Amino acid sequence: MKVGVLSSGGDSPGMNACIRAVTRIGLHKKCEVIGIHGGFQGIIERRFEKMEFGTVSKILHRGGTCLTTGRSEEFKKVEGTKKAARILAEDAFEGLIAIGGDGTMHGLAALEEYWDGKVIGAPGTIDNDLYGTDYTIGFDTAVNNALEAIDKIRDTAESFSRVFLIEVMGRNSGMIAIHVGIASGASAVLLPETPTDLDAIAKTIQHSRAVGKSTIFVIVAEGDEEGDAATISEKLSSRIGEKCRVSVLGYIQRGGNPTHYDRLLASRLGAFAIDCLLAGTSGVMVGEVNRKLVLTPFEETWIQKKEIPGWMLDLMHDLSG
Ligand code: F6P
Repeated sequence: MKVGVLSSGGDSPGMNACIRAVTRIGLHKKCEVIGIHGGFQGIIERRFEKMEFGTVSKILHRGGTCLTTGRSEEFKKVEGTKKAARILAEDAFEGLIAIGGDGTMHGLAALEEYWDGKVIGAPGTIDNDLYGTDYTIGFDTAVNNALEAIDKIRDTAESFSRVFLIEVMGRNSGMIAIHVGIASGASAVLLPETPTDLDAIAKTIQHSRAVGKSTIFVIVAEGDEEGDAATISEKLSSRIGEKCRVSVLGYIQRGGNPTHYDRLLASRLGAFAIDCLLAGTSGVMVGEVNRKLVLTPFEETWIQKKEIPGWMLDLMHDLSG
């Protein structure tokens, strides 16, 4: 079987481990594995590379993606999707595995309409916003990266007894924020999933001060409805009567060596993806739910909303202040 593998959308730590697993298991099972550079645009531009055992040596521990990635505007248009489908058919591809987030699952679903090959998605995004898997590849590393950065900011926060607003990534999801909030001992977390009440947060900060807390962290998910951390800082500073400092963690969260958890998850899901493809499965995303491997139809991954567990919201609330 001739199988293509690509990464698409935002890079996430562990994508390399997934590419390695797809390649090596594919080769063991006598597939011809072709790496596609630059995401879906790489199909349109025929940026193909024959993958050998050694092509994926020394990448397991590295962040980013050895195949590079992209958010192709051309592929998103029907003409672009059709062109990609035509090229895959002309070049005798029989299967495609794409690693990425919600845009990637949409891309695969669109491709399926014009191409007869088998298509499987693997969840690779730091946002952990895809239904059909407990964790996405890269999420654990991103949370750990954020915690490491906060531990450094803590030195200044403690030295000056300052209030810090820390903005974390996640697009429209507060998953990174809630995990970081609990694990960093934040006083409050602002999430897109729950209404943000700045008066209540101001009270929490004042209460924290009153009980003797010198270092106060508030975690702001980038998708919060009250705006970004800089905007929220202005709104909060006037309410609490002291200046809130802001730190936007940005791309630091997305880079660096994947954690053990992400390497393991990525390897497991990559191996599962190629096994499923060879068994004739198509139109699904591989995932891990309660440590078990599962398959979810593409559409469900974005139609069904991945909720932040209620126990996390409760725990955050009970530990804050
Ligand atoms: O989806 C991953 C992510 O890092 C989001 O958390 C963030 O909103 C977005 O990508 C940033 O996108 P870009 O890489 O295009 O700047």
